[in-house]
Amino acid sequence: MSGDFSDRLLHWFASEGRHDLPWQHPRTAYRVWVSEIMLQQTQVATVIGYFDRFIRAFPDLDALAGASLDQVLAMWAGLGYYSRARNLHRAAQLCIAQHGGQLPDRLEELLALPGIGRSTAAAILAQAHGQRLAILDGNVKRVLSRHAGIAGYPGLPAVERLLWQEAETRLPPDKLGDRMPDYTQALMDLGAGLCTRTRPRCTDCPVAGDCVAALTGSTQELPTRKATRSVPERSVHLLLAVDGRGRVLLERRPATGIWGGLWSLPECTAAASSGDDPQRERAEATARALGLELGPLQNLATLEHRFTHFLLHIETSVATARTVAERASEVADQAWVSSSAIAQYGTPAPIRRLLDLQFDAERT
Ligand code: ADE
Repeated sequence: MSGDFSDRLLHWFASEGRHDLPWQHPRTAYRVWVSEIMLQQTQVATVIGYFDRFIRAFPDLDALAGASLDQVLAMWAGLGYYSRARNLHRAAQLCIAQHGGQLPDRLEELLALPGIGRSTAAAILAQAHGQRLAILDGNVKRVLSRHAGIAGYPGLPAVERLLWQEAETRLPPDKLGDRMPDYTQALMDLGAGLCTRTRPRCTDCPVAGDCVAALTGSTQELPTRKATRSVPERSVHLLLAVDGRGRVLLERRPATGIWGGLWSLPECTAAASSGDDPQRERAEATARALGLELGPLQNLATLEHRFTHFLLHIETSVATARTVAERASEVADQAWVSSSAIAQYGTPAPIRRLLDLQFDAERT
């Protein structure tokens, strides 16, 4: 039965798949590329709005390559995983310099561009050019480890190698000609919509008939989960300084590390103190480094933000501030920003939330 995996999937896709995603109309290499990078760590429903805005701002590869990194990051702000935006921008410039202004249509050349791994390259070439290449993103790993009954954590190289083989075995036969864009989308839709992690809908699945996990009742065990370990936690203390004109002080983060290159609130780097009011002491240390004098301080509730590798606790102190000295810190970029100008600064989602709360509170 496994020989017609692609037939069954394509038949299912015709009525149940997604045919109206913005990057499908028109399905150019540039648009598919942008969508695939956005979709690497983000769900379709979130990506759609960002994709439309991004394409309006940078309608083609020339426009993207010609934009500043700041403009690109501002369009990416809130999507997270900002190295994706930096790589996209850098890759666009490489396409201008090395590939005649086009995204290459050869696998090896695509793989050489920053931010494009094997599955992303295959997804681009299959959708934009109909090339017969297998994809293997997180959703597809789940589908295939269940359908083929492959145990072992899919992040392990040996397991991943088996899954690539299964992905290739299931590709539509050559004679199906131009079905690669639909087949690729169908596999993604199956993984995202039916073959979900916790509650797969096997009764609606077109390939359940020969799915090892469905037949043996092991969908909950497959794919094998990673051996768990506790997530490390970190805390930062931020200062939300407001000047006499209601503007807040933003600082650009260093290019590397979390939120690299984005604008954020000044962060206290002083060691934790054991005093009575450590949050005040930290805020004052930050203010000193910035050459600010603070008015009364208000501590906001701690926010939690989950990164892939750690949990960040974000403590924020709000205070009115007055510049009293040349700032002593070494931070290169800082700006006093009014609420109407915030959107022009690329800010990480939790910081944007803090700023929105602050400006909303001022208005009410
Ligand atoms: N994940 C990665 N690419 C995707 C796509 N084209 N549709 C849905 N989910 C995806």
